[in-house]
Amino acid sequence: MTGNSPSAWPAVVRLAQYTKTEISEILGDGDDPFGVAEAGLSWLPKEEHFGIRRDGCLVAHAGLLMVPLSIGGVETKVVGLGGVAVTPELRGHGLARMVVTAALTHARTMGPQHGLLFCRPPLVPLYQRLGWRTLQQDVHVEQPDGPVVMPLRTMWTPLHDDASWPEGPVRLLSLPM
Ligand SMILES: CC(C)(COP(=O)(O)OP(=O)(O)OC[C@H]1O[C@@H](n2cnc3c(N)ncnc32)[C@H](O)[C@@H]1OP(=O)(O)O)[C@@H](O)C(=O)NCCC(=O)NCCS
Repeated sequence: MTGNSPSAWPAVVRLAQYTKTEISEILGDGDDPFGVAEAGLSWLPKEEHFGIRRDGCLVAHAGLLMVPLSIGGVETKVVGLGGVAVTPELRGHGLARMVVTAALTHARTMGPQHGLLFCRPPLVPLYQRLGWRTLQQDVHVEQPDGPVVMPLRTMWTPLHDDASWPEGPVRLLSLPM
């Protein structure tokens, strides 16, 4: 492998599984690889997985899960994006862009109008760069002891040309992804 331009990287592939083994392949065995433990939330695993393998090793991942949501009292579904991760020594070369782009291409075939993600505040500019917009309101999410206000930032992206975000209180009707 030579060069660091996106065309020099192996293509993004669908992964048959994404378990703790694959997560530690990318991020190592730390307790809090995504830096969100402080929020104390329970999360759902993702269902569809997109990754980049280099020399047989998984080096990047993005996951998707369709989740139920209520906006202004109207129930709908969104495609949740999560588990975006790039191995530390390969960050800053566009690999997150590649896996997120591949995941969103698939998300557009899943039906919902919007993609949704939760992230730490320092990652907002990165996701903005990838076309995501910040939702400037509290978002309630389910937790084992009942709904809580999501302490992380909530961002959305249109999955279809004419999708705008409807007005009204937003409530995720599941654990976050
Ligand atoms: C967050 C993470 C996935 C980013 O991976 P990466 O491969 O370094 O990201 P990329 O190089 O693809 O960058 C994506 C885009 O964001 C831009 N970007 C990166 N950091 C930025 C910042 N602080 N401000 C603005 N833009 C930024 C990049 O320039 C790139 O845009 P471009 O393609 O138009 O140049 C990686 O740091 C990581 O694995 N972190 C630990 C796990 C984690 O916290 N995941 C997030 C879960 S929500």
